[in-house]
Formats: sequence, C-alpha cells, structure tokens
Amino acid sequence: MSASSVGLTGESLAPSLETSPQRSSQKTPAKMATSIRDLKKEWVLKSETVRALRGVSFEVPEGDYIAIMGPSGSGKSTLLNLLGCLDKPTSGTLMLGDDDIGSLNDDQLAEIRSQRIGFVFQAYNLIQQLSVVENIEVPLYYQGKIGPAERKRAIELAERVGLADRLDHRPTQLSGGQQQRVAIARSLINDPFFILADEPTGNLDSVTTDEILAIFDQFNDEGRTIIMVTHEDELADRAKRVIRLKDGMLALDATVSEEKRTATRIAQRKAVEELLARTG
Ligand SMILES: Nc1ncnc2c1ncn2[C@@H]1O[C@H](COP(=O)(O)OP(=O)(O)OP(=O)(O)O)[C@@H](O)[C@H]1O
Ligand SMILES: [Mg+2]
Repeated sequence: MSASSVGLTGESLAPSLETSPQRSSQKTPAKMATSIRDLKKEWVLKSETVRALRGVSFEVPEGDYIAIMGPSGSGKSTLLNLLGCLDKPTSGTLMLGDDDIGSLNDDQLAEIRSQRIGFVFQAYNLIQQLSVVENIEVPLYYQGKIGPAERKRAIELAERVGLADRLDHRPTQLSGGQQQRVAIARSLINDPFFILADEPTGNLDSVTTDEILAIFDQFNDEGRTIIMVTHEDELADRAKRVIRLKDGMLALDATVSEEKRTATRIAQRKAVEELLARTG
C-alpha cells in the first residue's frame, strides 16, 4: 500500500497532506461557493431513526475541488444531495453563495438547481428515448428555452467530452463511459458554477476514468467548484482537498499538496499510456 493510500484511508495523515488549520488562516477571505454549519439529516422510520448526517460543518471557497470519501453508509450521497438542493436538511445551515437554502421555497430551490448546479449521478440517469444531444439539453427543458443557440451549445459540449461522432446515438447504443460523458456534458449545459458528482467514474475502466478526470481538471482550471464522491484514493489525490466522513460526521478535512496532485496525474497518465501500448 502506498504512503498516500495509508494517509487517506487510515486515521493518520500522509506526509503529503497538509492539515486543515491552514485553511482558517488564509489571508484574504475567499468567496464561498458553499458553506455548511452543523448540518444534520435524519429519517424517522417505523422502528428507528436513521441519522445519516450528525452535524457536519465546512466551507468551500469558489474554485475548490473536493473529494468526499468514507465507508459505505457514512453519509456521502446524503451530503451531496443536500449540497445539490435535491433534499432538505433536518437542521443546520446550508449557504450556496449568498443564499441561505433553508429560507427558500421549492420553486426557488428548483431555480437554483437548474441555474447554478450541475449534478452527475452515478447511475447516469439518461433518458433512453432521447439522443445524446437531446439528453444534454434536458436541464434546459425545465427552463423552457431551447433554440438554435442552446442546440449549438449542447453539440459543443458533446464534442468537448469526446462524443462528436455520437450526437444522434441513443444511450443503449453507447458504452458506459460514453454514457457517463453524456451525463457530464448534461451537467454543464447550464454553465453551472458548482459541479457535484457522485462516484462519476465508479463503473468505468482506467482509460475512461483518466479522460473524465482530465475533463474535471479543465473545468476546475476554468474556476468551477467541484465536489466529487469517490471510494478510490487515486482519484481523491487528483482533488485539491479530501473530506472524509465517518458515521455521518466529519472525520478528516485535508489539503492535497500541488506536488501530490501533479505526481498522481502524471502517474495515472503513464499507467494509461502503458496499458494502451500493451493492448493497442
Ligand atoms: N431515504 C432514506 N431513508 C432512510 N435512510 C436513508 C435514506 N437514504 C439514505 N439513508 C441511510 O442514510 C445513511 C447514509 O446513506 P448514504 O447514501 O448517504 O451513504 P453513502 O456514504 O453514500 O454510502 P455508499 O458509499 O454506499 O453510496 C445510510 O445508513 C442509509 O441507509
Ligand atoms: Mg452513496
């Protein structure tokens, strides 16, 4: 096991990870993409109350790139759904930009979702009857605005994720990786400032995973904030920061050093190139 995976999976931090106190001592306060304070989410079932999040707090400056990790059932998807305004917290504060999400009604939440947030679901959630381009346009249907300019943008996004020659294909005619790319292009059609991705490469081979992470790198370089749930240390090392949940609580909040990120990116690219050379 590598030093980095020990650091990210175990209780102690790897040498390449700096601990979070450094965040609070930033000189110029950065603009926040989101901040959450004592966020709780529970479900009351017949025989028990499930406490999925037990009071989680952190701040996400604009342009951050966070990997959320933690064991199955630790609350990762619950947290992502709250950040994406797909669900409401039981208590606590959730700010998106300057908006206090708790004070907004359902229509206002829907508007924020459709205008500011791009969501990449693990199960892709593509509509089987629609083509690649039409699937990418789906978030616009809710805003009732699809004209030539929107179609042009959908095609550009399809090209950007490497699907230029698949524009009219249906999801069943695509590989898993291609479907995931449609889902990623769809998440960008509203030009969101905030991209939330739940295990975006969970079902993909290493070559496609590398391509998708390269797309995320580009988005992040453009200043978009990314929060990605992942189970894999190698993916987490591509992010700028790792947040680990345990039993619905924050167990680790650590910065990934720039050196570590670059080394991980280079090592993964090299592994992919070697694989491609072997398999032709
Ligand atoms: N709608 C729901 N009703 C009741 N309990 C729920 C609901 N959704 C999630 N839970 C519970 O909340 C806890 C956290 O679930 P969550 O889906 O956030 O976990 P996760 O960290 O994403 O796990 P995984 O890695 O398996 O995807 C789990 O115990 C789960 O059973
Ligand atoms: Mg999950």
